[in-house]
Amino acid sequence: MKSYQNYINGRWVDPAAGEWFETENPYTGKTWAKVAKSNADDVAAAVKAAKDAFDNGWGDMKPTQRGKLLVKLAEIIEREAPRLGELEVSDNGKLIAEMGAQTKYLAEWYRYYGGLADKIEGSVIPTDKEGVFNFTRYEPLGVVGLITPWNSPLLLLTWKLAPALAAGNTTVIKPSEFTSVSTLEFMHLVEEAGFPQGVVNTITGFGLEAGAPLVEHPDVDKIAFTGSDIAGQKIYESAARKIMPVTLELGGKSPNIVFEDADFEAAVMGSISGIFAATGQTCIAGSRLLVQRSIHDKFVKRLVEVAGEAKIGDPMSMDTHVGPITTPPQYQKVLDYIDVAKKDGATCVLGGKPYTGEGSKGNQFVEPTIFTGVTNDMRIAQEEVFGPILSVIPFDDEEEAIAIGNDIVFGLAAGVWTSNIGRALRMSEKLKAGTVWVNTYRAVSFTSPFGGYKRSGEGRESGKEAIKEFLQVKSVWIAQETTAANPFIMR
Ligand code: NAI
Ligand code: MG
Repeated sequence: MKSYQNYINGRWVDPAAGEWFETENPYTGKTWAKVAKSNADDVAAAVKAAKDAFDNGWGDMKPTQRGKLLVKLAEIIEREAPRLGELEVSDNGKLIAEMGAQTKYLAEWYRYYGGLADKIEGSVIPTDKEGVFNFTRYEPLGVVGLITPWNSPLLLLTWKLAPALAAGNTTVIKPSEFTSVSTLEFMHLVEEAGFPQGVVNTITGFGLEAGAPLVEHPDVDKIAFTGSDIAGQKIYESAARKIMPVTLELGGKSPNIVFEDADFEAAVMGSISGIFAATGQTCIAGSRLLVQRSIHDKFVKRLVEVAGEAKIGDPMSMDTHVGPITTPPQYQKVLDYIDVAKKDGATCVLGGKPYTGEGSKGNQFVEPTIFTGVTNDMRIAQEEVFGPILSVIPFDDEEEAIAIGNDIVFGLAAGVWTSNIGRALRMSEKLKAGTVWVNTYRAVSFTSPFGGYKRSGEGRESGKEAIKEFLQVKSVWIAQETTAANPFIMR
């Protein structure tokens, strides 16, 4: 079995306590690699490397040069994308069809932020004060901790790493304990691109043993995190004690809203892609399907037909539609929620149990599951499941769709299916979500800001906005002539 050390200061090093843990392939159910079980000592070593790298010139490196390194990394990623995609599938069991495309797409973030690195401009501010020149400069924060989950390990790392580096920070990465290998392999690409040692470090391990000490470390200046709202809240609390900025992306319970005037078949496919793609293990899952009452029964019938034909099985096969659940606790959580929905009175019209048929292995499959008769106050409509479970909720008109759509603690995304442009605009204005898709679902790009309203998070990733999350602004005042003004009053 291959074993992976931590990557600190450009070197591969054993974990301080000499402890390791195994990572499992969710499809085969077999362990396939060993990774370092890090603790606060490993965190301290990685943070020291990052701080030294920042203090010793990375922060002062010409932005154009930083940008070129990022563009170089993009080229290397393109070469290595197929291999990275396979590594992702070995650890998270998502479809190679999706992970292969996703790893190839990573390159665009490094190119985009590489291009942005030397366009971080302050401004000259015309103040109301006599005889002074005032300007702003944007500066990096210092050492940034990047904590990532298991559902899209390299993509969600990239959303943080590319702008953090472009802005001139150094980084310590703590990937999910379930999917550490792709990030470690990625360190070879970072090295090949020529980043100075200590600029990018990775330590692996568990949330409380390695993640929490990273958040609490006094020399860490920001945390960018994607994961559960519970862990996000704990990180925010620790950050508050240090008065440290955070970016948090914490999932959701997004409404996907179908009006009677929508293109019927496109809306069916969009509803399916909203929840059964990635086996529902995506923060933007359209897990609440709101369907206008006039088409409800017909729509559900077609939905059941299409979802019922999904091919379940080997994620490495290009014609598989639904793969395994990534982790054993996640598998249990999904099954528990099926029970909760049934007990609360929802009607299961498709699936509702583990899948043990052809192509299943490793005991971590759940059938695509659809519940009707769901009311928005049920737990199955209010809590994030992160699995292939869809709740269908009927509504009568636009006003009710908005009320139900927004009646939730989360606000990551929303979908709207309609052929009425006025309605599309009204809905996109009134829905309280960081992303609204009209007649499409699950589209993201390096160019467009992504993040959550309400409990779905704090800050934005991707697009021009995101680089500001890794910068702080300084206001510089220069007197044009020196005068001996009254020193006892404010100028
Ligand atoms: P998690 O939030 O516990 O873990 C995400 C990352 O945070 C991992 O690297 C973990 O080691 C780290 N972490 C956990 N607790 C921490 C702490 N106190 N301080 C610092 N780092 C910490 O997510 P997990 O257990 O992998 O999944 C649990 C649930 O989270 C899922 O069922 C799903 O509902 C949600 N989730 C949401 C994601 C999203 O994209 N928003 C992604 C993955 C999971
Ligand atoms: Mg694994």
